[in-house]
Amino acid sequence: MAEKKYGHFDDANREYVITDPKTPWPWINYLGNEDFFSLISNTAGGYSFYKDAKFRRITRYRYNGVPMDNGGRYFYIKDGDTVWNPGWKPCKTPLDSYECRHGMNYTRITGSKNGVEASVLFFVPLHTWAEVQKMTLKNQTEEAKTLKVFSFAEWCLWNAATDMENFQRNFSTGEVEVEGSTIYHKTEYRERRNHYAFYTVNTEIQGYDTDRESFIGLYNEFAEPEAVMEGKPRNSFAHGWSPIASHYIEVTLQPGESRDLIFLLGYVENEQDKKFSAKKVINKEKAHQLIAKFDTTEKVDAAFAELNQYWDNLLNIFTVKSGNDKLDRMVNIWNQYQCMITFCMSRSASFFESGIGRGMGFRDSNQDLVGFVHQIPTRARQRIIDIASTQFPDGGCYHQYQPLTKRGNNDIGGGFNDDPCWLIFGTVAYIKETGDFSILAEQVPFDNQPGTEVSLFEHLKISMNHVINNLGPHKLPLIGRADWNDCLNLNCFSWDPNESFQTTENKGEGSKAESLMIAGLFVVTGKDYVALCKQLAKEALESKEGEIAGLAEEDYLTEAERMQQAVDEMNEAVKQHGWDGEWFLRAYDFFGNKIGSDENEEGKIFIESQGWCTMAGIGLEEGLCDKALDSSKKRLECEHGLVLNNPAYTTYHVEMGEISSYPEGYKENAGIFCHNNPWVIIGETVAGRGNDAWSHYTKILPSYVEEKYQTLHKVEPYVNCQMVAGKDAAKPGEGKNSWLTGTAAWMWYTVSEFILGIKPDYEGLLIDPCLPSTAKEYEVTRKFRGGEYHITVKNPSGNQKGVKQITVDGTPISGTIIPCSEGKHEVVVEM
Ligand code: BGC
Ligand code: NOJ
Repeated sequence: MAEKKYGHFDDANREYVITDPKTPWPWINYLGNEDFFSLISNTAGGYSFYKDAKFRRITRYRYNGVPMDNGGRYFYIKDGDTVWNPGWKPCKTPLDSYECRHGMNYTRITGSKNGVEASVLFFVPLHTWAEVQKMTLKNQTEEAKTLKVFSFAEWCLWNAATDMENFQRNFSTGEVEVEGSTIYHKTEYRERRNHYAFYTVNTEIQGYDTDRESFIGLYNEFAEPEAVMEGKPRNSFAHGWSPIASHYIEVTLQPGESRDLIFLLGYVENEQDKKFSAKKVINKEKAHQLIAKFDTTEKVDAAFAELNQYWDNLLNIFTVKSGNDKLDRMVNIWNQYQCMITFCMSRSASFFESGIGRGMGFRDSNQDLVGFVHQIPTRARQRIIDIASTQFPDGGCYHQYQPLTKRGNNDIGGGFNDDPCWLIFGTVAYIKETGDFSILAEQVPFDNQPGTEVSLFEHLKISMNHVINNLGPHKLPLIGRADWNDCLNLNCFSWDPNESFQTTENKGEGSKAESLMIAGLFVVTGKDYVALCKQLAKEALESKEGEIAGLAEEDYLTEAERMQQAVDEMNEAVKQHGWDGEWFLRAYDFFGNKIGSDENEEGKIFIESQGWCTMAGIGLEEGLCDKALDSSKKRLECEHGLVLNNPAYTTYHVEMGEISSYPEGYKENAGIFCHNNPWVIIGETVAGRGNDAWSHYTKILPSYVEEKYQTLHKVEPYVNCQMVAGKDAAKPGEGKNSWLTGTAAWMWYTVSEFILGIKPDYEGLLIDPCLPSTAKEYEVTRKFRGGEYHITVKNPSGNQKGVKQITVDGTPISGTIIPCSEGKHEVVVEM
């Protein structure tokens, strides 16, 4: 039976168009890409924050509410006795028409009722600490219409965590000011805060409300605010309790007339000595300036055009024309867009991440970089420095940091022994994109302590050393708290439900718990590190000073040799102690027992080690990679992708921890953890198996899923989610934890570098596609270090891998690296 559809792609406008407000789950979008951010659902639910969803929450949101997605920027339109919202919620008055268009950092929601159309464009202008809400009201009838329009926003008392729990204080702190059409939220400004927020509209208002209970009524819902239902604002003034902001505007529209109302939700910071303009009166100068920038339709339209231009430029860096719309729209639009969002948010704020628990992950943000670095390399550079600044002198790391303070914390545990390697991964991606070796000379502290600075190169070195210094009985990496799989807690042994698997004290002493995932990761990043050292040796030799980051040619050559040896040893250790006969083992537990072995009853095979060891090419010649990939296909694959492990754990195993706490088929217990599917896909490309790579890839490619499973899948069809219920689950194919997942960056890395085969390298663009035999020809345009390459790949005989010949501007080159040069170039690749 054909599934119900809730929307469709509009590629020409780079939008996803939602045509029914009752999506199977709120389908959201993100506004802002620098400092001021908003989450917005297809019914205008969501919230805004400045930089940090925990410490600077501007508007309030209630998670996991009933009904779902309660709270947002709501416009109530009272037309006679009918009250409705352009986004359907919260009144849920049946609309005559509804449409939500999620685009690149903007959302446009249009509803109509009884001959009035209200279209609201939401976006955060570039470099602006404010959300613009441009509402266009249109009278489509033959008669004049008089409407009562109420806006609504509910302030959060800044700290999203205490806002939800410390009511004995919170109900007494709220303070506001009203000046003309602007409502100011100045809670806690009297004391230590130098920031306030405001909500304004570019017209005279006929009333307002700032106290929630006066506006809504204590026993009412958002769907029936008393003030709106009666058509009378209360002009209430909040003292304590729950401050809100609502404008009341009377609008009369002649037949056919339309009118714009521009609302602006802004955030301002003042210097300590300029906080007040009079006793207790906040200094509004900066707010006035900000308001003046967006107080006419012309100014707002210009800012919107600028935002669109910004996205034109970003998305023009890499474009593909393959003749397959489903591929092209993901590569050219949505995958790259999601990479921007994961770069900005890491794992902090979504409709599955509260914005309170998780900040910028060490491993997460490093991985996010590979999807983002080509877009805005300077921001990637800063991110690498920020991440490295949280590292410890022994190479270990905080697992995450808070975006506002950039200080590391242990809120979701520490001592994950894969973490250090990811710094190599992120940094190498940055240098290959930019050719900027100077980043390695940057002086970067430990744990943000001034005076502890060493070069970034030194940070990379201690990262590698951290693995070498923490090997177990089989000379494989000790796992620590866990590796990439946060839930493989081999040193945890928790029987107490009040303990978090992530933060409970680990039994490190005497542990034999080793990870094959880290082993593979070490070989991949170790090889990268060796190649980097060799390149640095060359660069040092050619440089004026004869050195880079304080080291000379021979230093780098010695270092390359040292690490090559460590990589070779790891390679051997994996072949000797990490091979199970048909696939790679996953780990050894605390006691030295095998995990992910045919000997085990459940969890016989895991995806992570198959992915990393095949990406590393361990045992490629001996056929181990082919076997491991075949086994993955046989045991892990299902209709919706590759599950994490098989068979799923059906009982709790104290020696494995959280992984076995999940019911079968969910999350790390045999869910399709999309993040790790690309590892196997890349492994397939390393082995030259383009058909298999493509088949795995399209199973989790949103555009392919969208076509078949909007209802089953539930979550946004235009982006990847973290987890799709696996074959052992009650409802295989159901998606969860959308948006904030390393899947975005890995899907990008996979398709751009390993399938389409355009790989930035130190000396130029390396071309090495791995294709399904059905792919006969495609074109990629790639901007790279000042040049623009129009690359046509020709594959008439349907080969899966192997470049025969490359010509650049008509001249054949030797090898597969297109050397960097400025200007436009025509490249033809024959497979
Ligand atoms: C989840 C992981 C997550 C970890 C840390 C676990 O419950 O399953 O995916 O990374 O918590 O927050
Ligand atoms: C989500 C976390 O953000 C990520 O760091 C981790 O690797 C995966 N879960 C797998 O556990």
